[in-house]
Amino acid sequence: MTILLTAANGRTGRAVLKALANAGAEVKVFVRDEGQWPALKELGAASFALGDMEYASTIDAAMDSCDGIIHIGPPMHPNEVEITGRFIGAARSHGLSRFVYYSVMHPLRRAVRHHRLKLDAEEELIESGLPYTILQPIRYMQHLAMIWKKVLDTGVHAMPFNVDLKFNVADLRDLAEATAIAATQPGHLYATYELAGPEALSQRDMAGVISRVLGREIRAEAVSLQQVEKNARAAGASDDRVTQMLTMNEHYDQFGFHGNPNVLRWILGREPNTYENYVKRLAAR
Ligand SMILES: NC(=O)c1ccc[n+]([C@@H]2O[C@H](COP(=O)([O-])OP(=O)(O)OC[C@H]3O[C@@H](n4cnc5c(N)ncnc54)[C@H](OP(=O)(O)O)[C@@H]3O)[C@@H](O)[C@H]2O)c1
Repeated sequence: MTILLTAANGRTGRAVLKALANAGAEVKVFVRDEGQWPALKELGAASFALGDMEYASTIDAAMDSCDGIIHIGPPMHPNEVEITGRFIGAARSHGLSRFVYYSVMHPLRRAVRHHRLKLDAEEELIESGLPYTILQPIRYMQHLAMIWKKVLDTGVHAMPFNVDLKFNVADLRDLAEATAIAATQPGHLYATYELAGPEALSQRDMAGVISRVLGREIRAEAVSLQQVEKNARAAGASDDRVTQMLTMNEHYDQFGFHGNPNVLRWILGREPNTYENYVKRLAAR
């Protein structure tokens, strides 16, 4: 059984690819740059298809000799629905036996565009007649990796949220393993799974865990949205991306991001990783 994996060169895609390879699956990666192939082969991919999610003909060609697909969309993309629709259309004409869609937890939070677009894409998938599995992962623990150097340099864990707001962050490794299980093992068709981490942690709690692991004090601080915008623009983010990030951060800041780990625990057949374990892994890197 060959599984087509989209966004394979991204952060999530690489983690899912590794988990699929560990599970012995044969994976064809969908990439838009041939130069990405050697590294993905190293991670366990069996073949690649060169394509662009904006071009239906490249998607159609990529599905040749595939039995199933794990579709991961580019983050916060304005065309999430159109892109997913192209993969759904091609999967139908190729008669794929399984369409795993990597969505987000609480797609019904319509005020956040990429949540709402994933909800619309889920609806299209459910109504497509394809055998599907929808995965709804929560925010990753791995957001810490993006600010890790700064945490070490400054002693401050700074995120754009009220420091007492709770999130059930999940380890991307667990989410990737759960994705591989849902895509390769029987019993997961026509399911929609909310995937959340085991602890409800505030930024202050996270700073406490990091302090314990490092053996020195790390302080939690809420970054202002103005600063988030300034950082994003300095990093070259588009106007659209900046707007979506600010909307998301504002929304999470207002409502938090709670989830329940039961489903992830059941799929994995073990306890999901704790934040402390993740921080230890990061610190040992
Ligand atoms: N971060 C979280 O906490 C979280 C939580 C839940 C769900 N998610 C979801 O996870 C998904 C993946 O996020 P990520 O952070 O892993 O993304 P990422 O690292 O930015 O990777 C996105 C990948 O998509 C590829 N891509 C973009 N446009 C493309 C196109 N037109 N044609 C072909 N490939 C294209 C990119 O290719 P190149 O490598 O060539 O640029 C890249 O490899 C998103 O849908 C996000 O909403 C994330």
